[in-house]
Amino acid sequence: MEVYLDNAATTRVKPKVIQAVTMAMNEMYGNPSSLHKKGVEIERKIKEARKLISRSLDCREEELFFTSGGTEGNNIIIRGYVEANQRRGKHLITTKIEHPSVLSTFEALEKKGYKVTYLDVDNNGFISLRELEDSLQEDTILVSIMHVNNEVGSIQPIEKISKIIKNKNKEVFFHVDGVQSFGKILFSLTDLAVDGFSISGHKIHGPKGIGCLYIKKGWKVTPIATGGSHELGIRPGTENTPGIMGMAEAVKLIFSDQQNYIRKIASLKEYFYQMLMANVEDIKINGGDPQGTSINILNVSFKGVKSEVLLHSLEEDGIYVSSGSACSSKKRGYSHVLMAMGLKDEYIDSAIRFSFSDFNTKEELDYGIEKIQKQVNYLRKIMKR
Ligand SMILES: Cc1ncc(COP(=O)(O)O)c(C=O)c1O
Repeated sequence: MEVYLDNAATTRVKPKVIQAVTMAMNEMYGNPSSLHKKGVEIERKIKEARKLISRSLDCREEELFFTSGGTEGNNIIIRGYVEANQRRGKHLITTKIEHPSVLSTFEALEKKGYKVTYLDVDNNGFISLRELEDSLQEDTILVSIMHVNNEVGSIQPIEKISKIIKNKNKEVFFHVDGVQSFGKILFSLTDLAVDGFSISGHKIHGPKGIGCLYIKKGWKVTPIATGGSHELGIRPGTENTPGIMGMAEAVKLIFSDQQNYIRKIASLKEYFYQMLMANVEDIKINGGDPQGTSINILNVSFKGVKSEVLLHSLEEDGIYVSSGSACSSKKRGYSHVLMAMGLKDEYIDSAIRFSFSDFNTKEELDYGIEKIQKQVNYLRKIMKR
């Protein structure tokens, strides 16, 4: 049996998405910038896709730009906003638990002379609103805080954060990395009241290498790449038509029945959590109450078992998961997120991220639990020898 429980890393593409991508590659091969019919028709299809995705986010079409994914969206907005507004101030704020595409962007800006405040998080991965408020200074120009953390699933209170920032200074740009929240949390960009928001296609059963960036009308952003006037110049380059068609289909599939989609994944996670608690001893759930974290992410430490060893043992049984250290390489390959949460080394060392999708079934999870129990017991026994 194959049990894919690494859906926060990427998701399996839905058959209808594959159809949409294939159709676009077969039939929509024209360049959307061409003046003839072959171009104009595609331009219209891209407009429709933009409309559909902007509706799902609750923003205007002209505020949504196609990118190559979350990494590019985060780079365009953080680097581009800072560049366009460098005379207004040199202070930036983010958190210690951001995705590397945000963290390394800020690190690069520090080298250019910007001052960056990296907000701490508590044991469950939440920032302190008081620390955020105290960190906002006269010369702060941008704040970037992720919605859902990709390793532990903690959900930051974006609406409250936005109010705190704007009460202090309306001129501060507030960007949110929404790659892990899009589709999995019911929200509207109007309610969240943010100025920038990045999303990615491959986390929602769409193609890899496609995403969107929301930029609220009125903010000045300097493009980080130069070229043609595609995407209003914010992201020049011939549009990724198959990717855009695939992403639009993925969004359509989720948003046509989002409540059910959420309910289904949440119940799979709850089932897995209950079964794990009942069958495996000496485990620690990271990120606090699983009902308070993202519907698809469960981060668990298996005391006394090295996460990478367990990961590869489970792989032998056809079960695919992530170790807590994926994507980060600070201290001894440790997860920067779990370190920021103040976890003891033994828990960081043994953390596994399980992440679910609506492709998973209870039978798969039963099989997964059986194998996890077996492997964990075995590994603990040989570690003790
Ligand atoms: C929170 C977060 N931000 C950004 C990204 C990067 O997205 P992409 O893979 O589309 O570049 C990821 C992907 O792992 C993510 O989890």
